[in-house]
Amino acid sequence: MTPPLYDTIGRGYVAHRRPDPRWEKVLTEHLGVGADGLVVNVGAGTGSYEPSHCAVVAVEPSVVMLAQRPTGGAPALRASAGALPLPGACADVALAILTVHHWDDAAAGLSELCRIAPRRVVLAIDFVRHARFWLLEEYLPEVGDQTRRCGPGSDDIAAAIGATTSIPLLVPRDMEDGVLGGYWCRPAAYLDAGARANCSGLALADPAVITRGVGRLEADLASGAWHRRHGDLDQLDEVDLGYRLLVADAR
Ligand SMILES: C[S@@+](CC[C@H](N)C(=O)[O-])C[C@H]1O[C@@H](n2cnc3c(N)ncnc32)[C@H](O)[C@@H]1O
Repeated sequence: MTPPLYDTIGRGYVAHRRPDPRWEKVLTEHLGVGADGLVVNVGAGTGSYEPSHCAVVAVEPSVVMLAQRPTGGAPALRASAGALPLPGACADVALAILTVHHWDDAAAGLSELCRIAPRRVVLAIDFVRHARFWLLEEYLPEVGDQTRRCGPGSDDIAAAIGATTSIPLLVPRDMEDGVLGGYWCRPAAYLDAGARANCSGLALADPAVITRGVGRLEADLASGAWHRRHGDLDQLDEVDLGYRLLVADAR
């Protein structure tokens, strides 16, 4: 069996991918579950955004990610989304955050979410919009092309889980979760190899492409060219980079 991808790229995850409190608030509001409810968090990783007001069972295939979960946190099963070791309708909510596009069999995994819970809450990405982010468009066009081809995107996932609600999760200027677009107004952060290593879109790209693009960004930051082109970002508190919270409820 191939080792899970995050056994390789997830080693520094917990240090760079802290849950952002603004995203956490929106996610918690849309979970639609009370203190007596059960949430199954599939592709749970290190436990970001898991609710604390109700019971949670985490599902995660990577031992490296499981090892970074907090001591005393929710119980975790080592399993893959495509074959959840759980009975049908066992949970109130199936949760999946920034994970579906990593699943080896996304169709099977999405069908599993529907099998185990009547309510499905998924944080997905509109990859076409995501690829318009300045870092990809101007400095890493090859990664932008790859991003546009990535799937399933938010529309496909919404159709598969029967989502009736799609909420744009805007990225605040002081975003605490180091997602790929997290540093949109702090461009120097992308010069840090540790920050790049914890966004899969950058971690999995051709290193030569990254070296070339990051080198150009560094030069533009030093010359002031980046700031001249992107000075308008100083006026914004948050931007839409394609992150979408999808909610489906069959209750
Ligand atoms: C970007 S991380 C997101 C982790 C967590 N949900 C969060 O928001 O921080 C993607 C996660 O999906 C997991 N993953 C990859 N393939 C999977 C699969 N087939 N089934 C379940 N999880 C999977 C990875 O191991 C990794 O922990």
